[in-house]
Amino acid sequence: MKDLILKAKNKHDLSFDEIVSLLKYENSDEIFVAANEVREKYVGNDVHIRGLIEFSNVCKQNCKYCGIRAKNKFIERYRLNEDDIIKTVSEATNLGYKTIVLQSGEDDYFDEEKMISLIKKIKNYDVALTLSIGEKTYEDYEAYKVTGANRYLLRIETTDEKLYKTMHPNMSYENRKQCLYNLKKIGFETGTGCLIGLPNQTIESLACDILFFQELEADMIGVGPFIATKNTPLEKDLNGDISLSFKVMAIIRLLMPDINIPATTAMETLLDDGRKIALQSGANVVMINITPQIYRLKYNIYDNKNKASISYCEIEKLLNSINRKIASGFGSHKKS
Ligand code: 5AD
Repeated sequence: MKDLILKAKNKHDLSFDEIVSLLKYENSDEIFVAANEVREKYVGNDVHIRGLIEFSNVCKQNCKYCGIRAKNKFIERYRLNEDDIIKTVSEATNLGYKTIVLQSGEDDYFDEEKMISLIKKIKNYDVALTLSIGEKTYEDYEAYKVTGANRYLLRIETTDEKLYKTMHPNMSYENRKQCLYNLKKIGFETGTGCLIGLPNQTIESLACDILFFQELEADMIGVGPFIATKNTPLEKDLNGDISLSFKVMAIIRLLMPDINIPATTAMETLLDDGRKIALQSGANVVMINITPQIYRLKYNIYDNKNKASISYCEIEKLLNSINRKIASGFGSHKKS
């Protein structure tokens, strides 16, 4: 197994069977140490901070795991207006944020015209802009890009087609993949990722997820444990395994050494210090929630998410304690 880790570390290439055996390997610390070394060698000690604005929790989809699914009648829906969004962006840039991430449910109220107006206004500030608003048409994506959006996040969630179908009623796996290829073609820095520990998900399917990320040549990969959430069909299921989540993340770092990998909020939600452990096992990005306080609890994609919130000051302290620092640039994917 030591040879396999060494091979991953030096060649950044593993077969399906090799990924499966690493995912099953008990001594995960060896994988984490290797991923941390690769992270330092390729992307250094800088950590990129992204300011996340959750601007609408209205969603037309019904993903079985997600707390803001359309059929959840127990949450109050909200939309930020353009002025509130721009005010949040302005405050964030004053604080030093270099990337804004606009995230929402799949909310048709924010049509192409409204998004274009938002993108234009945000790009008056000196920031990189990431969108995370779901599946749209090729033309929509192209219009966002032409207007100035730089990056797009759309997790594939799982590449197990059968599991995808059960988890995402009335959605198409083919279309989701097509959206990702469209984003790449249009020239977005494209982020994707998967959930870890969905009911009936196998280790083999996680290995397929990792190979898919490589094939897509994704620029950013965010993964996190599935968290059973109240008022969803999966509320009684077991949470995903946090150490398996770290392992998937670390293997992604070994195979895609120069990409951006966030220490995700779901990791911190399931484990105190989860963010810190992730940063020492391959991650080089942190997303900070800058949604206006009154809306935060309502963007409940999974339970206890807000417990894991961290401020800019706190992240500075955390990074100091592990000999890392906040990066000064925009934090784009630099291919090596
Ligand atoms: N547990 C963990 N992650 C979740 N997401 C949605 N619901 C959950 C959940 N219950 C993740 C999805 C989505 C991202 C924004 O949040 O992977 O892409």
